[in-house]
Amino acid sequence: MKYHLPLTDPVLQTVEVSVNLGGLQILDSVSIGVPEGTITGLIGPNGAGKTTVFNVICGFVHADSGVVRLDGRKLRKIHTHRLTELGIARTLQGVGLFPTLTALDNVVLGASHQDHASVVESAIAAPWRRRRQIQIQDKARALLDELAIGDVADRLPGELPYPIQKRVALARALVCDPKVLLLDEPAGGISDADMEDLAKLLRSWVPRMSILLVEHHMELVMKVTDLIWVLDAGKVISAGTPEYVRNDPAVLAAYLGDEGAIHA
Ligand SMILES: Nc1ncnc2c1ncn2[C@@H]1O[C@H](COP(=O)(O)OP(=O)(O)OP(=O)(O)O)[C@@H](O)[C@H]1O
Ligand SMILES: [Mg+2]
Repeated sequence: MKYHLPLTDPVLQTVEVSVNLGGLQILDSVSIGVPEGTITGLIGPNGAGKTTVFNVICGFVHADSGVVRLDGRKLRKIHTHRLTELGIARTLQGVGLFPTLTALDNVVLGASHQDHASVVESAIAAPWRRRRQIQIQDKARALLDELAIGDVADRLPGELPYPIQKRVALARALVCDPKVLLLDEPAGGISDADMEDLAKLLRSWVPRMSILLVEHHMELVMKVTDLIWVLDAGKVISAGTPEYVRNDPAVLAAYLGDEGAIHA
């Protein structure tokens, strides 16, 4: 397939990744890349395999063949708990917050790898460890403020409207300063006004980080992405600039039955 985009030095890349689950070919030789400093879209109809691509990158799902590369280096065995150390953070398709922790503590948890204390540090309640914890807390508060939800820091997720919970989940992903941020439907269930804000926020985070965005809201995708990959039934069927992709007959055909979705 001919790609209508420059793909120089992707910071994150899947190379011919295939996944078979229960006898079903969920991903079929999927090669996509996120050029450094871009917002790259990954779109496709329901069940196309978008979340599975994220799951492979994060090590939740094992690829039967193919590789994931970060900064050109092959990730051999992907340990989900080490993702943040590698510089990869992710939000889930829902929200996935811990219901018994406050919004602030949920965000702090996103930086837990920065707070690894040795047995000795814990035993002597090392002051530098306490300082580290305070720094993480301050950063978590600052992020909640940046996302305009500083006032909910001490509330439990269940007490918060869904769009606010989505923002807490965003803050949790950001707290570890990822170089690559994977967002799975960040606009799901939010209003048009919130979507405008989200678009501005996303643009404000690049090129400091690179973003791979899975999203069904085409207006948002077309507005914020630099380039887009399109999946259908586990295969990449198109790739290019938003302008190219929205007019590609192959993409329009894939969305048939979901009339108007791609031009929304
Ligand atoms: N653990 C699993 N076992 C078997 N099939 C699975 C599993 N996880 C996902 N699938 C199937 O893989 C296909 C791709 O699912 P995936 O969740 O990646 O799609 P998606 O593009 O994210 O869809 P959506 O837009 O609805 O979120 C679907 O047909 C789904 O039913
Ligand atoms: Mg999905």
